Amino acid sequence: MNKNVIDKIENLRAKIRYHDGKYYVDNMPEIGDYEYDQLMIELKNLESSYPQFITPDSPTQRVGGEPVSEFAPFEHRIPMLSIENTYSDEELREFDKRIKRMLKDARPNDARPAMPFGRVVGQVDDIEYVVEHKIDGVAITLWYENGVFTRGATRGNGFRGDDVTTNLRTVKDIPLRFLCANHTRIPPEIEIRGEIYMPNKGFQRLNQRREEEGELLFANPRNAAAGSLKLLDPHTTAKRPLRLFAYAFGYGRNSKYTSHIECLVAIKEFGLPVNPHYKLCKNIDEAVSYCNSWETKRSNLDYQVDGMVIKVNSLALHNKLGSTSKAPRGVISYKYHPEETTTKIEAITVQVGKTGTLTPVAELNPVPLSGTTVSRASLYNFDEIERKDIRIGDYVVVRKAGEIIPQVVKVMKEKRTGNEKRFGVPERCPACGGDVTKEEVYLKCYNPLCTAQAKRRIIYFASRNAMDIEGIGPALIEQLVDKKVIKDYADIYSLKFDDLVPLERMGEKSAQNLIDAIEKSKVRDLHCLICALGIQNIGTHAAEVLSKHFGTLDKLMNAPVEELEEIFEIGNITAKSIVDFFSNSHTQDVINKLKTAGVNVNASHKETNTVSDISGKSFVVTGTLNGYTRKEIEDIIKNLGGRVSSTVSGKTDFLIAGESPGSKLEKAEKLGTTILNEEEFEELVKEKLKWKN
Ligand code: IVH
Repeated sequence: MNKNVIDKIENLRAKIRYHDGKYYVDNMPEIGDYEYDQLMIELKNLESSYPQFITPDSPTQRVGGEPVSEFAPFEHRIPMLSIENTYSDEELREFDKRIKRMLKDARPNDARPAMPFGRVVGQVDDIEYVVEHKIDGVAITLWYENGVFTRGATRGNGFRGDDVTTNLRTVKDIPLRFLCANHTRIPPEIEIRGEIYMPNKGFQRLNQRREEEGELLFANPRNAAAGSLKLLDPHTTAKRPLRLFAYAFGYGRNSKYTSHIECLVAIKEFGLPVNPHYKLCKNIDEAVSYCNSWETKRSNLDYQVDGMVIKVNSLALHNKLGSTSKAPRGVISYKYHPEETTTKIEAITVQVGKTGTLTPVAELNPVPLSGTTVSRASLYNFDEIERKDIRIGDYVVVRKAGEIIPQVVKVMKEKRTGNEKRFGVPERCPACGGDVTKEEVYLKCYNPLCTAQAKRRIIYFASRNAMDIEGIGPALIEQLVDKKVIKDYADIYSLKFDDLVPLERMGEKSAQNLIDAIEKSKVRDLHCLICALGIQNIGTHAAEVLSKHFGTLDKLMNAPVEELEEIFEIGNITAKSIVDFFSNSHTQDVINKLKTAGVNVNASHKETNTVSDISGKSFVVTGTLNGYTRKEIEDIIKNLGGRVSSTVSGKTDFLIAGESPGSKLEKAEKLGTTILNEEEFEELVKEKLKWKN
């Protein structure tokens, strides 16, 4: 029996790894998401029935472990050096000349065997270079022991970084076990280095969500990638769209590789994605023109390339050249200039976010920049305006930070006429006139009736991850609030057909559709509602955790900080923001309105009865079962982490009653124990039982 299960589990894992390789490494998926998900579900079900067979390299084990309070230091066995930068073709040719000179000079005194290049003494042949994209992300190192991913770390200061293994495990590009079919080639211990990055699209989506949730925005994809790798809770990292390009071996490289190209090929064979745009160039001329060819093309890529890296292909040569204390001599980067332009600040406006953070925005005279027209730039916070001495009417240099969010780099003070106006830090909220409070570098408006915040909160409430009310977008919400038809999200539920019809771009049909969509949203699961409330620090995942834990909104509302803190995945800050939120009397009024409107405030059977609810629960089985022997059903319960006992007591959570149950059933009824028949039990553990069929 066990052998069958183990075989089945291993088979599934091999299949999933194979498809991971096709998807992440080769970019040629052979199956669709649905089929892939089915494999994963099957494996998860098997593993939850047989937790004794779970291994750390199983594809199901990417996210795990407790949040940490800090990262352990990680000493690099070989320092992670940096690369010398160049900015022009001339500098690149200078690099080529310099290394040829060094090699030439080195030869007469060199006792080592002749190098595999250059036949003429005193003159060195062309050097072959591999030219690659310089990915603008975060350098990391990955260690594999016998082909299994064991540890990973950031570069840090080059000698010591942070051990971010649990976070790296969540990055699907990183195989938890090498894919390579030819196991004899896998060294016992090998280090692979590469760059973790966040694709542009994923970055934009992440920031968009953060904006909706009133959280601070990341300035560029690199910061977002770095921030995501340094999160203390791997569950959050798992949700960030992080990707990897591996570009070199570190420690443990097999001595049979003679060139960098061979290393790239081997890394890819092991199952790590290698950027496909590398090119073997016969000499520096080819390398220079390859670098130039990407200068403008790079803006079409979905990741940030801030330059090219030029590497001597021959490893013998690379080793011979050695390194300075900072960088290897055989590698150099060719950096592209960030795209910048100048324009005038016409005005500075202030945006108010969902949780009341005031953000200054520069309204620019529109200018084209890296393929789009830029007319606004975030100034992040008011200290930043002060620090850069930004005034209305100033000419400024703008750059797309990470070529996406426009940023004011600096003021062109030489262009000042004296008519520029300083921007006064708001003393009141520009939307509601309420008081503002400074919190670190941010200004916040805490007025619960602030319309700007109300609009943001309502938009968020209705958004897809929350109550998912189709047809009620930002423009409509803006109108409804401005016309004072609604003032908070609970008012959505008192909207009538006649309120909607007169609004701009609203016909009778769309009004009716919206009324229907609002009605439909009343029965959303509790976790949707918890998320929709807009509690600071509570996104979709935390909302699910809370819904599962408490089961009703009332219980969550009455929970003290101490109880919240004890929940796995809920930290002290989040616990406090929950308590703060619910203790606000305005919040309580709004929630009462939601309840009166008939919005569901209880978790469904489906939400609460998950594996974790079976785990730790006490079961008693009685009577004759049709589909199982007593032993079989007891094994299922135990495999899911439940306990089986023979007598019904106050501590019994479930009684499973078959035919002719007898006195145990009576006792359970008296005690109010949950009684399940065979079908109900199967329903409870349905997902987990799939493997049986
Ligand atoms: S090779 C000795 N190749 O650039 C360093 N680095 O500015 C060997 N980077 O810390 C690194 N793309 O994080 C190499 N194709 C690539 C790269 C790359 C990005 C990063 C790397 C390094 C930084 C140096």
